[in-house]
Amino acid sequence: MAMQPQLAQLVATAQQEALAVTSRAELEAFKARVVGPNGSLTAVMKGMATLSKEERPVVGKLINEAKKSVEELLAALLLKVEDAEIAAALGTPWDATLTGPDAPAGSLHPLTRTRERILASFRKLGFTVAEGPEIETEWHCFDALNTPADHPARDMQDTLYLPKAFRSADAPRKGDEALVLRTHTSSVQVRTMLSRKPPFRIVAPGRCFRRDAVDATHSANFHQVEGLWIDRNVTLADLRGVLDFFVKETFGPDAEIRLRPSFFPFTEPSFEMDLRSPNLGRLSNRWLEIMGCGLVDPKVLELCGLDPNEFSGLAFGLGLERIAMLVHGIDDIRHFYNNDLRFLRQFA
Ligand code: DAH
Repeated sequence: MAMQPQLAQLVATAQQEALAVTSRAELEAFKARVVGPNGSLTAVMKGMATLSKEERPVVGKLINEAKKSVEELLAALLLKVEDAEIAAALGTPWDATLTGPDAPAGSLHPLTRTRERILASFRKLGFTVAEGPEIETEWHCFDALNTPADHPARDMQDTLYLPKAFRSADAPRKGDEALVLRTHTSSVQVRTMLSRKPPFRIVAPGRCFRRDAVDATHSANFHQVEGLWIDRNVTLADLRGVLDFFVKETFGPDAEIRLRPSFFPFTEPSFEMDLRSPNLGRLSNRWLEIMGCGLVDPKVLELCGLDPNEFSGLAFGLGLERIAMLVHGIDDIRHFYNNDLRFLRQFA
């Protein structure tokens, strides 16, 4: 039948021409040349009218096959053109692993920066970083730090206790069965003395919790950095030297310190350390209390398995938020936790 080679030729030509189609306009023109009102396939279909009754079903089948091939060709071309359009819109070369333009890089939180700065100062003096759990036993948080059961620090008003359901019934020591959210990082002193052999110097940064009413200078959730140096013959001169170095590193060479007698159950003698610096804005040249410190109480050494006749130590604990507020002139502790980008971006 004469129709068959003609149709095969038509499809072959279309496939050949399709190779040159790269844009939507070329696709539309190509489509018109084949299946448009004056298209090549359309012309063949029109020719059906001149065929005899017998020829029609046979030729009709051939035409349908050719039509199907052409439709598949057009569908494939459309996909190719769309891909080209997307690639053009995205620009080439296109790397699918690139970060999107709407994902700007973040920066470290001011408390993280302050913590890293503080730790870096102490590393220069040979201190290493130690850590302990935020959920602590009452024994590690209080008893081992010579803080008796009737001490106000253990009061429900200050300390967040975990419900009885979370407590261990077969705790090895009295006090181990009760769990609290640690009220200070001093518990890491205890864990370090129990697990390491002196001499050592550690700083322990971490989150602490107290049932405080929130205001500009108080938060129920805050951070401390604890320090502990245990060796033979550690003295108050060492304490002063360490703290003076830290303060000058953090606040500049003109910063001075003052140790004011105080009381903590776990140090003897105990001090509040005050800081005075000429470059603290409206807080310049005034004594500001920034940490507690002292020589480790012999009773604490004993409770933590160290011989107080052989070893002595110094300890200190500071509030991270307080330091960050002084360094950056921040007037409200709540800024640290609100995740307000207008505040956070100032430290980027
Ligand atoms: N743990 C004390 C507090 O949270 C701070 C402190 C005072 C830590 C004296 C010490 C220290 O290591 O020697 O208020």
